[in-house]
Amino acid sequence: MPEERPADPVSDPRRKAAAVARRVRLALEAEGRAGLTAVPRARKRAAAGESPAAPASGSEKNAYAATDSDAEAEAAEVEAAIEAANSPASAPPEEQAAAALREDLMKQVRAASVETDLFGFASPDLAEGISHAEALARIAAEVAQCDRCPELCKGRTKTVPGQGDPNAKLVFVGEGPGQEEDRQGLAFVGRAGELLTKMIESIGLTRDQVFICNIVKCRPPSNRTPMPDEMANCMPYLARQLEILKPKVLCALGGTAAKALLQTDDGITRLRGRFHPYRGVPLMPTFHPAYVLRSYTPDTRKKVYDDLLKVRATLDA
Ligand code: URA
Repeated sequence: MPEERPADPVSDPRRKAAAVARRVRLALEAEGRAGLTAVPRARKRAAAGESPAAPASGSEKNAYAATDSDAEAEAAEVEAAIEAANSPASAPPEEQAAAALREDLMKQVRAASVETDLFGFASPDLAEGISHAEALARIAAEVAQCDRCPELCKGRTKTVPGQGDPNAKLVFVGEGPGQEEDRQGLAFVGRAGELLTKMIESIGLTRDQVFICNIVKCRPPSNRTPMPDEMANCMPYLARQLEILKPKVLCALGGTAAKALLQTDDGITRLRGRFHPYRGVPLMPTFHPAYVLRSYTPDTRKKVYDDLLKVRATLDA
């Protein structure tokens, strides 16, 4: 828990809100003593540039004009003070900077996933006319220097940017590197990776014909699920990789990858088995190979195989 900082008595917005509330209460008590038994509702605030709605009559104006605008001003002040108290501006500057960076990154990811079709988007990483392989290697070099997630940076042995055919038509996206991936700097090379190889081969492809990567490029400690801010920090690398590759089909391995790419809270059981659009590319969510290893039943394996057959059919279409 971060230590609570003592409030600045002059600028602390909570104190300001309390002071305004006290003034409003005292004003209302005074009005009550003077015979006011009901408080008129504040009129809807006029939109910028509009003049306020005219009062119904001159007497109403005399009775309420000052009270109305005072009450509105007070209400606005209270609102602003509460908003300020709740806003990240009351957080320490380094938290504010981190929050702003995260927000900016997520805006980019959201804008990219909602607005731009991968095929209608010229990857800035290819702007100098370099090959896919060179552009992907440059991203891998940036990832190797990345220090956006303090905990992941501290714990990593190697970064794991992803690997495979730089012109792959099919891209698999997992959650994040595990122990073996962290040791080798390669995605899906542990036990789950062995099963992924079999899954790929079951639809007549080989690992080197596809591209395999993850949402986060550094191993989370003890293989925990990546935190939302870690995913937000790392998503721009994946977005750029996909902009270069422009795959015909995407396959998200497990709920974490599917949710992050599709920006949804729906779980893998609900999502799998059908395609969902990711920037104009059909994306098939399926169970993560590590889950299949844990739940190695004919039913789970059939579901994954059915999903992969759909992937293959779409690749061939
Ligand atoms: N699990 C993942 O999600 N990715 C890997 O690279 C390995 C295991």
